Amino acid sequence: MARTIIISNRLPVSIAVASDDQIKISENIGGLATGLKSVHAEENSLWIGWSGIEAEQLTPTNKKKIDAALRKKYRCLPVYLTQEQVDNFYYGYCNKTIWPLFHYFPNMTTWEHDHWTAYSEVNQIFYDAVADQLAEDDIIWVHDYQLMLLPAMIRASHPRVRIGFFLHIPFPSYEMFRLLPRREEILSGILGADLIGFHTYDYVRHFFSSARRLLGYENEFGKIQLGNRLIKVDAFPMGIDYERYNQSGEVDAICEGTAKLLAETSGRQVVLSVDRLDYTKGIPERIRAFAHFLELNPNYQGKVNLIVIAAPSRTQVDAYSDLKREVEELVSEVNGRLGQIGWMPVWFFYQSFAFAELASLYRGSDVMLVTPLRDGMNLVVKEYIACRKDYRGVVILSETAGASSELSETLSVNPNDMNAIAAAIKEALEMPVEQQIRRNKILHNRLKRYTVKYWADDFMHKLQEYTCQMPYSKVTLLKPADYGKIADRYQRAKRRLLIFDYDGTLAPLCPLPEQAKPTPELLKLLNKLANDPQTTVLICSGRKKADLDGWFAKLPIDLSAEHGIWVRPANGEWHQHLALNDGWKAQIRPVMESYVDRTPKSFIEEKTMGLAWHYRLCEPDQAHVRLNELRDTLMEYIQNEKLSLLDGSKVLEVRDLNASKGNIVSMWLQRESWDFVLCAGDDVTDEEMFAVLPDGSCSIKVGADASIADYHVKESAAMLELLARF
Ligand code: UDP
Ligand code: G6P
Repeated sequence: MARTIIISNRLPVSIAVASDDQIKISENIGGLATGLKSVHAEENSLWIGWSGIEAEQLTPTNKKKIDAALRKKYRCLPVYLTQEQVDNFYYGYCNKTIWPLFHYFPNMTTWEHDHWTAYSEVNQIFYDAVADQLAEDDIIWVHDYQLMLLPAMIRASHPRVRIGFFLHIPFPSYEMFRLLPRREEILSGILGADLIGFHTYDYVRHFFSSARRLLGYENEFGKIQLGNRLIKVDAFPMGIDYERYNQSGEVDAICEGTAKLLAETSGRQVVLSVDRLDYTKGIPERIRAFAHFLELNPNYQGKVNLIVIAAPSRTQVDAYSDLKREVEELVSEVNGRLGQIGWMPVWFFYQSFAFAELASLYRGSDVMLVTPLRDGMNLVVKEYIACRKDYRGVVILSETAGASSELSETLSVNPNDMNAIAAAIKEALEMPVEQQIRRNKILHNRLKRYTVKYWADDFMHKLQEYTCQMPYSKVTLLKPADYGKIADRYQRAKRRLLIFDYDGTLAPLCPLPEQAKPTPELLKLLNKLANDPQTTVLICSGRKKADLDGWFAKLPIDLSAEHGIWVRPANGEWHQHLALNDGWKAQIRPVMESYVDRTPKSFIEEKTMGLAWHYRLCEPDQAHVRLNELRDTLMEYIQNEKLSLLDGSKVLEVRDLNASKGNIVSMWLQRESWDFVLCAGDDVTDEEMFAVLPDGSCSIKVGADASIADYHVKESAAMLELLARF
């Protein structure tokens, strides 16, 4: 039976070792721990996460005790990290690089090589923990920015396993994301998943934009095709445990502390602010805006309090300790300046409040002020609304919080606009009760439906449904272990045929075709292979014969140019294999030229039997639009001609239907009774070669696009590595 494996940086439990070696495990409540309860409730589920305890501090016996207790009662598997790993991974790359950058704080972002190394190393540690447990029919759900490399690590060793990934923080715009030095690795890491979830559709758009601009991956209908995999990307806004907050009034009795606190505000209105102490939350800006409101509205002085709760967080990162100092100084400055005997405007608590305390504060506050400068979602705002069973209270919500895209009945503000926040505070304090109730009823209806359970079940359901429909082709990744096997077959054979496409297969793709010259190593390798009398080498390319001649004329290899139109046997002369019919070009060329005019950096390449529009160097979004237009236009032109339209790698080509690499490969196959045939290519035109190969041949697709080949390798370098073994 399929098992669910949840992987997140934090486990849903906290572990502590007392001085007498007693192990104390307590369940974490709220957020992910509550959200995934339904998913983790099943017998055969497992949750893998960081133990939270430094590995050096644990004796082997305590470690064993922790492992056993977690496994048995909580179905959790802890991952242990050393102090150094915690410093460089958690405090370092996670919270000094990714966190600030993804929240649009490039000035606070640091790039340190050691931090990156630890990030990959810890992702690998998580990988080792999961790989140990993994079966092909398991379903894996990886969470958040701490583990963005993990999906691809799992995918590389388990091509069929179902993987979901959810990012709980914003995915920033391309302009921000491109600043990250290891951006391609991060994107490729996430793209190891089958289903990628974000809180809002804006984050989905940003992700697509970065995938297209940085990796050249197009998306269509919310999906990216990557090799034999279709990856779905969608928005799943996370909710809360509505009933728990809505029913929280029942536990009022146990919150004497907060009841006392609220009693002290008696006769005054209360504005509440609750966050982890984090610079993304806009806490100083919020306090300043409240002070500004009091200055603009002196009649409110003495009549309203701002209660600021800031739970300690990531205290070893300087930016967080600096922020604590800044907020403390600001609170005392505002209180010193505006306070009166018997009234301090701002009450600041640097501590973490438990659920019941927090809920009673929510219920007792008139206005909830939630103005993060940037926030992936923000659950606090949802908790406040749910707690107000009486439908009273007003929410002021920053438009840069993910929650804002769902909660339109709140007062929406720009968190950097002090005047707008001050005006919203006034509006909120004066909002008629009927209006509060009307707005909150709509908000409650949404929160009641889109609960955190709904979110988790919906994601898991989509992951299962989606991966069931996925078309898997037979292509599998060629691993180093397979290289030896193929080389063995090659050595044992007596009549060998090696067929290669050139660009993207034997040489990496270059921005300009003329840059893709063969390296001396490649020439040496081909020369060595072709000089073996038992081996025939054929390069079958879409290039013009002049290019191939220039590079390979002196080698004893067979050449075919322009998709099979021209042929040159080893050490022989070029001859045209197909009769020339290019009358159609006069019609097509002006159409393509008009697209070159309108699309900077695109160009036309003229071939004997083809015309190709190249757009590799163009701005990707613009090229995408133009490509679709040009394809539609050309379709009309070629309908009555014997022409085909070919979508290649960043090239759209019209060519004579007779021109096909498949025809040439068939000819070479019939020449002898080969006992070893290997064929490699990277483009759609190379599929024509794969299609005519006899059983028992070895076909290799270079790159990740869909293919009918037996194997694929990541890049041309891997292809050369294989050939070096022959
Ligand atoms: N929270 C808490 N005690 C506190 C302050 C916050 O339990 O003193 C909880 C709060 O109830 C919410 C979570 O911390 O569930 C914060 O989640 P949110 O999405 O608002 O922000 P994040 O911390 O994820 O950035
Ligand atoms: C955000 C992140 C979570 C993280 C939480 C608390 O919600 O998305 O992944 O767990 O903050 O931060 P911490 O660093 O204490 O885990």
